[in-house]
Amino acid sequence: MSRKTLTQYLVEQQRNNNAIEAEVRLLVEVVSRACKAISHAVSKGALGGVLGSLESENVQGEVQKKLDVMSNEILLEANEWGGHLAGMASEEMETIHHIPNRYPKGEYLLLFDPLDGSSNIDVNVSIGTIFSVLKAPADISGREVTEKDFLQPGSRQVVAGYAVYGPQTMLVLTIGNGVMGFTLDRELGSWVLTHENMRVPEDTKEFSINMSNMRHWAPPMRQYIEDCLAGTTGPLEKDYNMRWIASMVADVHRIMTRGGIFMYPWDARDPKKPGKLRLMYEANPMSFIIEQAGGMATDSVNRIMDIQPTELHQRVGVVLGSKNEVARVKDYCAGSK
Ligand code: AHG
Ligand code: MN
Ligand code: MN
Ligand code: MN
Repeated sequence: MSRKTLTQYLVEQQRNNNAIEAEVRLLVEVVSRACKAISHAVSKGALGGVLGSLESENVQGEVQKKLDVMSNEILLEANEWGGHLAGMASEEMETIHHIPNRYPKGEYLLLFDPLDGSSNIDVNVSIGTIFSVLKAPADISGREVTEKDFLQPGSRQVVAGYAVYGPQTMLVLTIGNGVMGFTLDRELGSWVLTHENMRVPEDTKEFSINMSNMRHWAPPMRQYIEDCLAGTTGPLEKDYNMRWIASMVADVHRIMTRGGIFMYPWDARDPKKPGKLRLMYEANPMSFIIEQAGGMATDSVNRIMDIQPTELHQRVGVVLGSKNEVARVKDYCAGSK
């Protein structure tokens, strides 16, 4: 079996297809190396003293786990010095991270959820890292980057990816040219292309939602789930299965592998937060990946990647996955069903 590595794939994309610039290639290499380091820390568990929580809360109002903070630091350190970034933003930091003056600055912006699925760390269930790359505005050279520079719709993403730390560690990546899945070869320390051109099946009978929030959802969302639960004798005439891992990375990875629909919809708990998930480092990168694999990603009605962000830590309702099922939910929520 010929083994193509991530490096080879990226060099080919740069050389043959002109699909990425050298600077972006380096950026992806650096992020993927950081994910290797995070994977290593995760796999040590109690032996490495990485489990448990800290005293601190992040800007999202969540108690930080040790691994949330460690992963954030690994990503910052790895990406600061390479010269390809103008700045970074993360779920775990209140505001943007400037590149220290001792290093050269580049044209790209990196956004990340350093450790996704924090509630699963201590119970040894799959977790991950999600990242998104944007190009800084053209006038960036010679001035400091600002939060406003990051507020670009997801359709402007240059790269998006996630690493999933599960039974295998995988990196799933799009540079806007389909979606490729790489598995970490732990002996060699390299990412090997194992899942070429990943595609999300258009139809599904499997949904993914935290059912405990049902009483807070909008009526059309409740109706859709009730119709799913009604089975073959209900209006959807299908027997649905349900999965909820509570790590978005792991739930999305399942959908990338065998289809499905993932929902963390708008709910009425907090009027200031239209949903739980964060637009810039969860919803946008996952939407880019899902769309590149032939799926669909909406906030229940509108395309996520068309949303013009107004805040770095903005939240959004998320309905993504198999195209025909996401379109069905859109019909319910747009009032046409
Ligand atoms: P994070 O660990 O980065 O804060 O994200 C957690 C998110 C997401 O991964 C998952 O889909 C969702 O929160 C789970 O939420 P519930 O615990 O409400 O089910
Ligand atoms: Mn969190
Ligand atoms: Mn997350
Ligand atoms: Mn997180």
